[in-house]
Amino acid sequence: MPTRPDEAALLSLLRADIAELEEYTPIVPLEILSRRLGIPQEQIVKLDANENPYGPAPTVYEALSRYRYYHIYPDPDQTLLREAIESYIGIPKEQVIFGNGSDELIDLSMRLFLMPGDLVVNLPPTFGMYSYNATLCGGRVISVRRREDFSVDVEGIERAVSQHDGAVKMLFINSPNNPDGSLIPEDELRRLLRLPLIVVLDEAYAEFSGRSYVSWVLEHWNLIVLRTFSKWAGLGGLRIGYGAFPSGIARQLWKIKPPYSVNVAAQVAALESLRARELLMANVQRIVAERERLYAELSRLPGVKPYPSAANFILCRLLRVDAADIAGQLAQRGILVRHYDKEGIRDCLRITVGTPDQNNALLQALCDLLMQPEQAAGQAKESRDK
Ligand SMILES: Cc1ncc(COP(=O)(O)O)c(C=O)c1O
Repeated sequence: MPTRPDEAALLSLLRADIAELEEYTPIVPLEILSRRLGIPQEQIVKLDANENPYGPAPTVYEALSRYRYYHIYPDPDQTLLREAIESYIGIPKEQVIFGNGSDELIDLSMRLFLMPGDLVVNLPPTFGMYSYNATLCGGRVISVRRREDFSVDVEGIERAVSQHDGAVKMLFINSPNNPDGSLIPEDELRRLLRLPLIVVLDEAYAEFSGRSYVSWVLEHWNLIVLRTFSKWAGLGGLRIGYGAFPSGIARQLWKIKPPYSVNVAAQVAALESLRARELLMANVQRIVAERERLYAELSRLPGVKPYPSAANFILCRLLRVDAADIAGQLAQRGILVRHYDKEGIRDCLRITVGTPDQNNALLQALCDLLMQPEQAAGQAKESRDK
């Protein structure tokens, strides 16, 4: 309830759906955390946002410092970048649009199709922006929960779509799925594409899986594939992602895209990353190798059940201790991992794969914390037995 008259006046003017909207909780910025924990930024082991621990290609820094036209507005047509991406994903430039992170393309795709009241199928647990943006667009979200092993309930989706005859406009699938890293199998995607709706396949982590369905955009009128430079190319802070669209959708999307949302620095950095792709893919391979090592090590810890992942993170279920508490204790030691207070994953931690040193620090700290209750229990038993 508003407590002051000006608050009441504001609420009477504000869109009611926004007033009721739950705030999005992003991660805490590094500099703020450093201040809060009293630990220097460079000593914080940041494994909470699926960032690339190796950062951008060194030539990206050089290209950014060489660039002389920061005072000129960016090319709204993203001409050079769209030409360069053709050879990377094998999709003609007419069918690719860049955005301010793939987040912008999630938002624009929804704005293109959703009228207030339209339905969107979401497959939780998954990336939070799909339901967030759908609500912002006035859409209504139908959740078809993933199974225990995070596989997609295809029959459940088909049932939900037929029950709401004609009202479901979009389906969002994330593959590899954030937070668990599972991939959607080919036959399931093919089946879902037969539904009379727009399928948005978010492949933010495709490079770590070695599997992409982006070429399917050429054969399916209703498939949008979203990709990003945030993960494999280490450009999360510069905000650049893209979508591959069927021609009909691309033409419509250009109409609603803000012309200057992709800044020049992001365009320069992405172009240079495509030139440096060999080096960046070598970093991806290092992360994949570390992912497998981290998975094996986590499996050995008592009461920890990691899920196999095709991305740059691993979801672990903690069977004997409180996951939120462990995340908090890790943070006190300067090690950040992600805990979600959400159905199905409340007892889990999502750990981004870091450098070997970062992963070792995480494993050591986790091992210490997990042993503590056992040691305490063991000591208590010993003193009882005396
Ligand atoms: C599944 C998924 N899609 C999209 C994004 C956002 O990507 P971008 O940085 O390109 O906006 C993320 C970021 O974590 C993600 O996990």
